[in-house]
Amino acid sequence: MFYLNYILEYNAINQVKFCIMNKTVFSNFLIKIFFLQMVCSANVLARNTPDSVYIFSYATLKNAGHNGLHFAWSIDRKNWSAIGPEYRYLFCDYGRWGSEKRMVNPFLIQTADGFWHCIWSVNEKDSVFAHAASRDLVNWQRQSYPAALQGRNCLKLEASYDKKSGEYLISWLSTKGEGFEIYSMTTKDFKTYTAAKPVAESVRLNMRDNIIISNNSETGIVRKVPWSLVDELLKTCQISAYNGLLYGETYKTDSSRFALLKKTDATVTVDVAQSKKISDLLIGVFFEDINYAADGGLYAELVQNRDFEYVAGDKEGRDTTWNAYKAWSLSGKEGTFTIDTIVPLNTNNKHYAVLNIETAGVGFVNEGFDNMAITNGDKYDFSLFARNTDKKGERLKICFIGKDGENYGETMISTSSDKWKRYEATLIATTTVSNARLEIVPQDKGRIDLDMVSLFPQKTFMGHKNGLRADLAQSIANLHPRFVRFPGGCVAHGDGLGNIYRWKNTVGPLEARKPQRNIWGYHQTAGLGYFEYFQFCEDIGAEPLPVIAAGVPCQNSATGGAGQQGGLPMCDMGSYVQDILDLVEWANGDVKTKWGKVRAEAGHPKPFNLTYVGIGNEDLITDIFEERFTMIFNALKEKHPEITVVGTVGPNSQGTDYDEGWDIATKLRIPMVDEHYYQSPGWFIHNQDFYDRYDRSKSKVYLGEYASWGNSLYNALTEALYLSSIERNGDVVSMASYAPLLAKEGHTQWNPDLIYFNNTTVKPTVNYYVQQLYGQNSGDSYLYTNVKLSDNSENLTKRVAASAVHDSKTGDLIIKLVNLLPIEINTKVKMNGAGDVNPSASLTLLTGAPSNKKVEPVTSALLVSDNFNCSLPAYSFTLIRIKNLK
Ligand code: AHR
Repeated sequence: MFYLNYILEYNAINQVKFCIMNKTVFSNFLIKIFFLQMVCSANVLARNTPDSVYIFSYATLKNAGHNGLHFAWSIDRKNWSAIGPEYRYLFCDYGRWGSEKRMVNPFLIQTADGFWHCIWSVNEKDSVFAHAASRDLVNWQRQSYPAALQGRNCLKLEASYDKKSGEYLISWLSTKGEGFEIYSMTTKDFKTYTAAKPVAESVRLNMRDNIIISNNSETGIVRKVPWSLVDELLKTCQISAYNGLLYGETYKTDSSRFALLKKTDATVTVDVAQSKKISDLLIGVFFEDINYAADGGLYAELVQNRDFEYVAGDKEGRDTTWNAYKAWSLSGKEGTFTIDTIVPLNTNNKHYAVLNIETAGVGFVNEGFDNMAITNGDKYDFSLFARNTDKKGERLKICFIGKDGENYGETMISTSSDKWKRYEATLIATTTVSNARLEIVPQDKGRIDLDMVSLFPQKTFMGHKNGLRADLAQSIANLHPRFVRFPGGCVAHGDGLGNIYRWKNTVGPLEARKPQRNIWGYHQTAGLGYFEYFQFCEDIGAEPLPVIAAGVPCQNSATGGAGQQGGLPMCDMGSYVQDILDLVEWANGDVKTKWGKVRAEAGHPKPFNLTYVGIGNEDLITDIFEERFTMIFNALKEKHPEITVVGTVGPNSQGTDYDEGWDIATKLRIPMVDEHYYQSPGWFIHNQDFYDRYDRSKSKVYLGEYASWGNSLYNALTEALYLSSIERNGDVVSMASYAPLLAKEGHTQWNPDLIYFNNTTVKPTVNYYVQQLYGQNSGDSYLYTNVKLSDNSENLTKRVAASAVHDSKTGDLIIKLVNLLPIEINTKVKMNGAGDVNPSASLTLLTGAPSNKKVEPVTSALLVSDNFNCSLPAYSFTLIRIKNLK
């Protein structure tokens, strides 16, 4: 109780958290009790609380206004207690990460219907303001960003109610020279607003107060509210602090958490007669061109900037070497290399190289993506488009060269046309090195124009032309993914309206595809485009799951207007929707259809059997989003009822976008929604019941992106633990994919990832092996499984999990067992109702030190019966596969 008083007295969760962390004398259990007491204590205290108090709503200027909306409360308007002390109840989602997403001078007002409305400036320059509403100040509805006066900023917003008209007057200051002008607009519902007009200063309430909080003077709005409202604010903050402690748990504190842990046994009971159908698509992959996953990665092209289309904007002008010349150089002085756009090969591909050779022998060199890895004796397909503008033919020597000009294989081509023409040749490597470059050496002097200079190993995955890097593709195939989601992620909805990924730009002849800036700050050739994605899915037996932007770009967009707020103009939505309908025709249509013909011409007359289409990627759920999403959804439903549309519910496991996204899903009866959450290992440990609570009558779930922020065995085991709960909930969770999938060393924008690689080596992570064990050992029915520990305290039961599935194709029974405790657990496995069990089984074990990043699974034979013993080592994932269970 001492601690309880302490916390109430100071009302400073963070300070308490700090104390607890440092004492480490509390067991997890005690901490929980302590917080529960604290949260529940409100009822006890309610006997002696006032009916109403004052709240002060404010945003601090620290961190440039990124910290969102805070509250303090006071009984007398003199002594103020800050909650948290700076707990964030509302966060501005306007604009890009980093410099934007600011809340400046929030103003809070309650309307007659009981709703609280918060309006604020998003920065000092934009001519919009932000609005959000809430019933309880804790749960906020979707944000909107109404336009103020075009070209003018919008500062110090206020809102007041005019009883006579039933309207709210919103006024603000707008900078004019050294001073300000005042403008206003009215609204009845904070959804539609009249046009802005100038008003007199007398309309201003000037009701912002200055209050000293933690020795700082803060500016905000004071309102009188019922104590119960403040009580909820306090509880929210306390629960969040409590969850913060749980979710922050790692193996590093296991030694104190489990200091008194004694020998523990487990009985795992698999009820073979009690099963439920689960999705047979549960484990798949999410491929996004992030971390150089496509160009320079999975896409086997060895030439970097083959189309000379790199532009400074790819990197927002931050890299002065990033332009159409990138990765290219001349190896001699007697010649020039320039970029031209006058007679392009294709309007989608405007830039090309112009070589003026004064002395034969000058070489035109491409450095590749971190050079090129070549293998002795292997064949490589070289091709380029050339134009002999001087009307003289030109012989070109094509060779691999080493660091000091060593020749590692060469071939010749002759060009002969004054029009763009494609030439090809085969280059054979005469050595194995990882640092080769490609050199094109004109044998005669004169001018030659070049574009789409390309080099592919012939040994691509499945030998496809324009194919995928074999080792990387194989490592993905080895996961046995039942679906592939592509092309993103943020890549799908893009950085601003102009950057939305358009599938039509990525099919057809390579020179006619439309390259574009990759949202992750590099260049996307679109060489790995929709055709190649679909082909890969077919090759590995996975369902294609293309994700199309919902007519809105990424909410964190840096270009084309502050975040997602501007969707595609409604007048363009008709053709945008048609593009999506065309995709279905392209994938599934008969060769006689317009788009089916395009597919057939690309070499695939048979349909691709597209069944799932994702619309939207963790978008900010706004009115703009909903309007466009609904339009696309309804069109697909009407024209292609055979397609399962996957909607989106924001980037988090809770919060406004999650709630609003789910509301839309329920309203529209969207068959499936895509959930995303990147969380700490502790979150996964403490949320294994996440889907147990899901309403089975609503949309199914695709957990499209998740990961536990790390690549150690411990991270992987928490993912394995969570996946056992996903299997258990495989009737409501239809698919799940870890994210991101690939990351090239030296080009990684996002950590952790599932597979790291460089030009020669593929480096699967421990997390990969967990995915692989689940992917290769999936089932289509879940057998009810129960784990009973000899010590049933929650701290332990949350760290030992089991899941059993039956695979009807093989008849095998697969039991997955996770032990996240620092001790070995002797386990009895009972299979109720199994009858005669085939005794020959296999046991695959993934175990080691929790910090270890290099653990691999080891498989051995195991003899089993319907009642057998096995031991689960400390920090381990055990998979038992029993053959042909009838
Ligand atoms: O997986 C990386 C990124 O995470 C995805 O592009 C995006 O959807 C999410 O924010």
